Amino acid sequence: MAEIIDGKKIASEIKEEVKSEIEKLKSKGITVGLAAVLVGEDPPSQVYIGMKSKACQKVEIYSEVLKFPQQTPESELLSQIDVLNKRPDIHGILVQLPLPFHIKEDKMIQRIDPKKDVDGFHPFNVGMMVVGKPIFLPCTPFGIQQLLTRSGNDPSGKHVVILGRGNIVGRPLSILLSQKAPGANATVTLCHTKTDNMSELTKKADILVAAMGKPKFVTKDMVKKDAVVIDVGVNRIEDPQSKKGYRLVGDVDFESVKEIAKSITPVPGGVGPMTVAMLLCNTLKAAKLQTKISVL
Ligand code: GUN
Repeated sequence: MAEIIDGKKIASEIKEEVKSEIEKLKSKGITVGLAAVLVGEDPPSQVYIGMKSKACQKVEIYSEVLKFPQQTPESELLSQIDVLNKRPDIHGILVQLPLPFHIKEDKMIQRIDPKKDVDGFHPFNVGMMVVGKPIFLPCTPFGIQQLLTRSGNDPSGKHVVILGRGNIVGRPLSILLSQKAPGANATVTLCHTKTDNMSELTKKADILVAAMGKPKFVTKDMVKKDAVVIDVGVNRIEDPQSKKGYRLVGDVDFESVKEIAKSITPVPGGVGPMTVAMLLCNTLKAAKLQTKISVL
């Protein structure tokens, strides 16, 4: 039976590290600040923003959530980003995705000052990651890398198979783990909706990452014995027995896959808490860069 990789515990360790750094900055008179922009009423986004803001409180990062109605014009949101870019008390800015249809995600992301882009989504930061000179790594791929290295599953020399080529997880993770760098050096296969014989590839994975957003897609027959399985999926499925009327399941059929894997992340409590922890790391780094305090 697989060992469960405890993302909550590893995230707590990282948050402790961040907290002690934040305290050092406080003693120099610097309060680290993060602004989060939330547009509309998307329920998961509201939950994520709540978790990010609570995590900031815990490590004493000042956080501000700017909430806008669904119909807010794009031009108004862009002006708000201009204001945040100029504020010296705000070191990090994030725009929670997805955005309503009338707002262009690219345009919003590109308006954020790359020095404050703590999500690592700005093309400048994506480019720096691609050429192996990262400044801000996107939080979920960064979190998965930390989860692997800190749980004793360094990807170096391993065959990593990633399911899903999205801009937030799959594609940047494929770049990150194939870098010539500590915590990387993997051989990466990136699978997507047009991949032929997906099971043949997944069965070759030493480390299998599921990030395509399909509930319980990865089943036992798709996994090599003693593989490490990382589940990025957060899918709400109806559950009349639950108080909320739904429950969360990953992209991996946890119950069957845990019988064959060496290690596996649960949902919730796996990758999710790591994403939040890495956002705090990036915000700390942003504050250090902007206040010219060297990054440790
Ligand atoms: N939506 C899903 N994941 C993320 C994330 O990491 N950052 C932002 N801003 N939005 C998201």
